[in-house]
Amino acid sequence: MELFVGSEHSDMYHKFRPTYPPEMYEFISEYSKSGTGTLDTAVDVGCGTGISTIPLCKYFQKVTGVDVSETQIKTARMVHKQSNVSFFISRAEQMEFLSDCSVDLVTVAQTMHWLEMEPFYKEVIRILKPRGSIVIYGYGNGTLNKSEGNLVIEKFFNHDLEEFWDSRSRHADNFYQNMYLPFSGWERKSDFFIQNKWSANEVVGYLSTWSSCRKYLKKNPKSGRLDEIQQQLIDIYNGQKITITWPMVVFVGRKNTQAEENINNVF
Ligand SMILES: C[S@@+](CC[C@H](N)C(=O)[O-])C[C@H]1O[C@@H](n2cnc3c(N)ncnc32)[C@H](O)[C@@H]1O
Repeated sequence: MELFVGSEHSDMYHKFRPTYPPEMYEFISEYSKSGTGTLDTAVDVGCGTGISTIPLCKYFQKVTGVDVSETQIKTARMVHKQSNVSFFISRAEQMEFLSDCSVDLVTVAQTMHWLEMEPFYKEVIRILKPRGSIVIYGYGNGTLNKSEGNLVIEKFFNHDLEEFWDSRSRHADNFYQNMYLPFSGWERKSDFFIQNKWSANEVVGYLSTWSSCRKYLKKNPKSGRLDEIQQQLIDIYNGQKITITWPMVVFVGRKNTQAEENINNVF
């Protein structure tokens, strides 16, 4: 997980990654409540700097963010001071500090492709209350509101970064096309999207948080590509804000009596 290590990266991540739509958290909390009947505890795994954790604090009495990266958790603890949230350094596949059948909701935001599926799902089943929910979500590639702008980003994505894309990141970019949940009655939804109006500097800041871009910069520390892209975007947009829209995918599932059996059959 060296890609998410380093305080500089965590700061950049927190500053430049998009936040998620508030109406999605409304939907998630309603889905969760219709399962267990309570909104006591939510656990956000792979919480990063807490972007995906904090919106849950409005709905749940106790929210826990879990991430394997010390620096991501350090930043999360520093920037979020809500009284009902706490952050833990841990692998999602082994969360010993959480008791059996104690959690109403587990969320996984833009992280599922990094996890080991079988031990993770077993852990989810252990910690969820009966009829507790799991919601896995993420976003695909963003689209800019001018085709010339998209061409600039696509060239960087497909040409400069080509050799640096990890197959796991590709899975997320492909919108988790082949993913299924080992819970009967699970569903895949794509009613949500993220939209932001950003400066060229913010767009380039966002590109620099991509795992492939971090690898690229490690190999080419003197590269001026990001500055070049920023200037190209300033020229195309005449210095005006750039609208970016990211499609989202949301998977929902619920622990039922056959959950353990399903997992043993699937893996
Ligand atoms: C792309 S970030 C997503 C952060 C946050 N959920 C968000 O939406 O902004 C993925 C995060 O997953 C964490 N991660 C990767 N593998 C993990 C694992 N096995 N257990 C816990 N966290 C993990 C990384 O450290 C990183 O912070």
